[in-house]
Amino acid sequence: MPGPGPPRWPEARGVSVWVNCACSLDGRLAFAEGVRARLSSPEDLARVQRLRAGSDGILVGVGTVVQDDPSLRVHWDRIGARPGRDPARIVVDGSGRTPTGARVLDGSIPTIVATSERARRAFPPAVRTVVVGSARVDLARLFERLPELGIRRVLVEGGAGILASVLRGGLFHRLTVYYAPVVIGGSTAPPMVAGGEAAGPADLVTLRLAGTTPMGDGYVAEYRPDGPALGRRPG
Ligand SMILES: NC(=O)c1ccc[n+]([C@@H]2O[C@H](COP(=O)([O-])OP(=O)(O)OC[C@H]3O[C@@H](n4cnc5c(N)ncnc54)[C@H](OP(=O)(O)O)[C@@H]3O)[C@@H](O)[C@H]2O)c1
Repeated sequence: MPGPGPPRWPEARGVSVWVNCACSLDGRLAFAEGVRARLSSPEDLARVQRLRAGSDGILVGVGTVVQDDPSLRVHWDRIGARPGRDPARIVVDGSGRTPTGARVLDGSIPTIVATSERARRAFPPAVRTVVVGSARVDLARLFERLPELGIRRVLVEGGAGILASVLRGGLFHRLTVYYAPVVIGGSTAPPMVAGGEAAGPADLVTLRLAGTTPMGDGYVAEYRPDGPALGRRPG
């Protein structure tokens, strides 16, 4: 369970996928219309930085880049560590709509944009572009390609669309959710998982609870997929 030491990543034959996000108690990732909400407690922020520091790549969707403009870097000072190797940034952008001025494109850290055949966009030379998929990014294929790019531990941070594909596709080994003791409510605040409707039990993603840990004024719940990870269903 998440503690103050370095996180223990799951063993995996190819890439090891750890999904992490912060939610309100009602399962929202952000404020109305997706406006960024800083939900993590200071303790959880430190936990996430340790998780980032132990990863080879941090993955987000282009929706998160457009909405939040994250730097996706490790804040070594928050974990009292000397700066080490920065994990690569991985942006899932099927249509090539990452803003030109986005921080992920600043060239300061190795960055991969995973895109699809429908994208007509050229990215700066410092950015590695990987085309996987015809209209959307095929995440299962992307994860297969990552080891050849030196990435074996990938931390998936969101947002709601990416979490839908990764969780519903069974493309993960571990999920940790920080639950902040707040309620957001409303109808436009993004839920933890977006995507299509679940019509019944056959559409459920089932998980096993591995434990819960108090984290400041909230708590972290850790889950494992209920069954073999990676590629149980199409992504
Ligand atoms: N609380 C947290 O921990 C946390 C963390 C991250 C983000 N967030 C929040 O999440 C929200 C953004 O979520 P979002 O759903 O709008 O965006 P997102 O999940 O970051 O990105 C989704 C976009 O990725 C592209 N994409 C390409 N292939 C995909 C695939 N196979 N599966 C899913 N997406 C694919 C699609 O855009 P194209 O069709 O253009 O390719 C899609 O619209 C923001 O409000 C942000 O603040 C919260």
